Amino acid sequence: MPDPDPARVALLGCGDIAGQYLTELARHPAAVEVTTCADLDVERARARATEFGIAKVALPAEALADESVDIVVNLTPPVAHAGVSLEILRAGKHLYSEKPLATTLADGVALLDEAGSRGLRVGCAPDSFLSGPIQQAREAVDAGRIGRPVAAFAAFAERSVESWHPNPAFFFAPGGGPVLDMGPYYLTALVALLGPAEWVSAQGDTLVPERMSRHGGPLVASTPTHVSGTVGFASGALATVIFSFDVHHTHLPRIEVYGTDGSLGLPDPNRYQGAVELVAAGGEWAELPPPGGLEIHRGYGVVELAQALRQDRPHRASGALALHVLDVMEGLLRSSGERVAMTTSEPLELAA
Ligand SMILES: NC(=O)c1ccc[n+]([C@@H]2O[C@H](COP(=O)([O-])OP(=O)(O)OC[C@H]3O[C@@H](n4cnc5c(N)ncnc54)[C@H](O)[C@@H]3O)[C@@H](O)[C@H]2O)c1
Repeated sequence: MPDPDPARVALLGCGDIAGQYLTELARHPAAVEVTTCADLDVERARARATEFGIAKVALPAEALADESVDIVVNLTPPVAHAGVSLEILRAGKHLYSEKPLATTLADGVALLDEAGSRGLRVGCAPDSFLSGPIQQAREAVDAGRIGRPVAAFAAFAERSVESWHPNPAFFFAPGGGPVLDMGPYYLTALVALLGPAEWVSAQGDTLVPERMSRHGGPLVASTPTHVSGTVGFASGALATVIFSFDVHHTHLPRIEVYGTDGSLGLPDPNRYQGAVELVAAGGEWAELPPPGGLEIHRGYGVVELAQALRQDRPHRASGALALHVLDVMEGLLRSSGERVAMTTSEPLELAA
């Protein structure tokens, strides 16, 4: 039997991240063919289409009306995700969204309901938990190499976004912030390693309310820029998490998992590469051998979704997983874990 045609894909939103998607999707021509670049700003769509040799340039409505398109990839800014994704589903297309799935849990639930009622798939970034290092760490956990996981640590703490992104304002507005922006990579990895979360508790604040963008324009944060919390997993494991746009430099690990018989150290979950380290109780840290298998990059989740559709099996970077991670993130932002006031702060004299 001849191979079926690849799934036809339209990108909706052709800004900064679109190039990484177009590069990865071009590596999998048997699974996907990008036929259309669409954007509210049609000149951005045209620029990407020219750069990557994509046939059609369109406004969003034109892309959604195109009957030949099977999957629409939503690469708009986070605050636009829910509305744009709903339009994609209402146009009868399978959806793959950049993270977060939506900026509120209620909007995320509405999206999955819409897709369910129409028999459509929802895939969502991040797909980095499918990469070699995180899958290798999962295998180590499943094989019992650190015993029973009892605790974990995850931290994103940087002050870089204002200096590299061409349009950084959305990172500092509601719907942005370090939890919704970077939390998906760390929390999806933790859920992949430890299973579903059951509760969260957190404290957050806007510690550095003002900063300059790389173009010199002022950025005023109107959403928490530093959040630290605890995630309680159904397994009983407890994870300490820190998400911050307020820290210039740190030696904090990205992700560690602590078991009854040892510990695992993971590389940056937003990079798809890097060494996993393991130490048995009483032993020395050692890198695991590089994982074999397919090397993936950002956008692979769309390829895997197309393959799953063809094979009539569930896809892995799923809407249900993204919704669970959104639930955790909203919990971290909503939580005002009980503050217990100290009774011994004054008078406390601290000699220099
Ligand atoms: N930039 C990165 O390094 C990066 C990395 C990982 C994930 N992401 C995610 O990718 C998404 C896009 O980020 P970006 O950095 O490319 O943003 P961007 O601002 O550079 O690009 C967004 C594009 O979407 C278009 N757009 C906005 N509203 C639209 C609408 N309603 N319909 C159609 N097009 C619309 C804009 O014109 C713009 O071209 C975000 O969800 C972000 O979290 C970005």
